[in-house]
Amino acid sequence: MTQQITDRQDRAVVLEDITDANWRDVADVAPADDQRRFVAALGARYLLLSTRGGVWNSLAVRAGDEVVGHVMWAYDDEDGTHWIGGMIVNEAEQGKGVGHAAVRALVQRLAALPDCREIRLSYHPDNTPAARLYTTLGFRPTGDFEDEEVVAALSPAFDVTGHSTS
Ligand SMILES: CC(C)(COP(=O)(O)OP(=O)(O)OC[C@H]1O[C@@H](n2cnc3c(N)ncnc32)[C@H](O)[C@@H]1OP(=O)(O)O)[C@@H](O)C(=O)NCCC(=O)NCCS
Repeated sequence: MTQQITDRQDRAVVLEDITDANWRDVADVAPADDQRRFVAALGARYLLLSTRGGVWNSLAVRAGDEVVGHVMWAYDDEDGTHWIGGMIVNEAEQGKGVGHAAVRALVQRLAALPDCREIRLSYHPDNTPAARLYTTLGFRPTGDFEDEEVVAALSPAFDVTGHSTS
């Protein structure tokens, strides 16, 4: 059974497919102004990328009753890795454990896929909150860079508390 994932306020954090009911809230997801150098200014940009690009898959991040964030994933068929991207938590909802819970939930979901051998993501070297978040969840830099961002990877052989499950 999948374990319920909660934030620091004990709200259940779940990832939802994009629907007629939630897409407006996802489109409105916005980081703080000074975080716009790391991510898009609005969730709408990533939603369109998912809809138009055919590579990424957007998900709504719901905490309790509200949509408070966006995250997306993709499969790279060139090297067989899964990727996480577009992680944004609304400015007012940051620092409450939502980002941690959302990435944990997505890692669980991807790791359960039969072809999942490695999960990757990238972050700007100056993005300290993102680096801490991903490190806490067990991601480690691969040494690769993509668009000046640090590429980090997690092997599904490690659970999201960082303990080996193999
Ligand atoms: C990065 C982001 C998704 C984290 O989400 P969040 O809900 O604020 O994070 P959490 O509350 O779950 O905190 C997770 C960890 O992030 C770190 N963190 C969060 N906010 C932080 C801040 N303002 N300063 C430093 N570290 C911070 C903490 O280390 C925390 O770990 P802890 O549990 O040891 O305290 C969020 O800050 C965000 O949307 N930022 C703008 C967009 C962005 O940069 N996305 C990542 C692109 S790679």
